[in-house]
Amino acid sequence: MGGGLIVKVTLGPAGPDADVSPGLTLLEAWPGRAGLDPVCGGKGRCGGCRVRILGGDVSGADEDEIEVLARLGSRPEHRLACRVRVLGDVRALADPPGGAGRTPDHRGPVPVSTPAAPSVAAAGRLGLAVDLGTTKLAGYLADLDTGTLLETDAIPNPQRRFGADVISRLGYALTSPRHYRQVREAAALGVTELADRLCRKAGRSRGAIREMTVAGNPAMHHLLLGLDVTTLARAPFQPATVEPITVPAREIGLPIPALVYFLPCVAGFVGGDHVAALLATGAGTLRGGALIVDIGTNAEITLARDGTLTTCSCASGPAFEGAQISRGMRAVAGAVDKVWLEGGRLRFRVIGGGAPAGICGAGLLDLVAALLATGTIDRSGRLRAGAEGVGLLLTQADIRELQLAKAAVRVGIEALLRETGTAVEEIERVYLAGSFGTNLDPEKAVAIGLFPPLSPDRFVAVGNAAGQGALSTLTSPEKRAEAVCLARKVRHLDLTSRPGYQEHFLGALGF
Ligand code: FES
Repeated sequence: MGGGLIVKVTLGPAGPDADVSPGLTLLEAWPGRAGLDPVCGGKGRCGGCRVRILGGDVSGADEDEIEVLARLGSRPEHRLACRVRVLGDVRALADPPGGAGRTPDHRGPVPVSTPAAPSVAAAGRLGLAVDLGTTKLAGYLADLDTGTLLETDAIPNPQRRFGADVISRLGYALTSPRHYRQVREAAALGVTELADRLCRKAGRSRGAIREMTVAGNPAMHHLLLGLDVTTLARAPFQPATVEPITVPAREIGLPIPALVYFLPCVAGFVGGDHVAALLATGAGTLRGGALIVDIGTNAEITLARDGTLTTCSCASGPAFEGAQISRGMRAVAGAVDKVWLEGGRLRFRVIGGGAPAGICGAGLLDLVAALLATGTIDRSGRLRAGAEGVGLLLTQADIRELQLAKAAVRVGIEALLRETGTAVEEIERVYLAGSFGTNLDPEKAVAIGLFPPLSPDRFVAVGNAAGQGALSTLTSPEKRAEAVCLARKVRHLDLTSRPGYQEHFLGALGF
């Protein structure tokens, strides 16, 4: 890259060559400006010099460039040729917005070679996918150029101090502009902290993150974007927008030189996180009947059947995540995550071994199933007298919390079955997403009535499907397009407005 080097620029395999000095902008190096339409004369305003960087070593994007690219609805690999400086070998393709009127012959890859300097692998650009959950933020750091996943991590959502569920947080945010700012800033701080943790683990710099995708429920999505949440906070819970959104990270309070793509939402309680889960499970192409279930503070459930998607959301509450349970905790070290009967006695497993510090959602579900089997809990959910001494503190209130949570989910599943005319036995697969879904024992879940009577072999734990879906959209324009198609294809059922909802809910409370 020294001053005496000559850079060879070739337009496509059969195109003309040009020799230029390294350090020039790609626009200056571009022979004849073929395929481009630089109407602002290289001032970085018009976007007519947009190119796709297919690989190579170029300078990073500044805030102004990111803003123009976002305005044009650009993809991660897009750059403005008038802003990019050639630092090493580069392969690029002219791709101005619209693309009309360009000469096809001049739109091939443009190798820019520096014979004396080996290329640095594509400038080491990073991508960050975030599953913006109510309880936790999960992040996936990837190398954008190789597509390699570098690190994953999760942190508690710092917004928790404003309420355990989305309605509490929205309520707080709506009490004053200052409160709104506090909740919004907490989300941005959380994402920044997550980015820092991941970069530290990978030995990289946060400044190398050039592309981000965010899959969040509508409340998390709106708050981070700074959108109006007035209609989201009260019935009929309408989002301000369900469209996919791309913004420069700095515009939403993230000190990261990236473009952020927010996956599209579906409805007031069905957001980009569920769309990402549908993407990860291939829900749009599933044949036969399948349920995609993501249970957290809120549960989103989709019934996929022969290419159709019908979705509902249920206020399952925080019990499945171990919250609002007397000895409840998340599924981390010290939590009881499995309980079973052995010779009529309760046995349990603690994550990481040692003495139990509490019980997580999956453990709670097991425990209640076991106590139902021994008759310690009756079918109405009443804890019989003298039931203490089970080794774990379980109160009557805990059981009631679990009943409310499981009834909410079950009513949702039954409504989807009814609405689509699907018999239980036609459900060939139940995809369980999320931490709780991954840890739960399907047999116990069926035993307490969380799910209809289905054989355990029909249940498949798919881990953090929302995170995986968000990750897949980081480098793939096709996946982003697929996410938009899925979001538009989904038919949303508003459960609470359906006739008989209360009766169904009350009927589902018992065991
Ligand atoms: S020439 Fe206008 S943005 Fe590059």
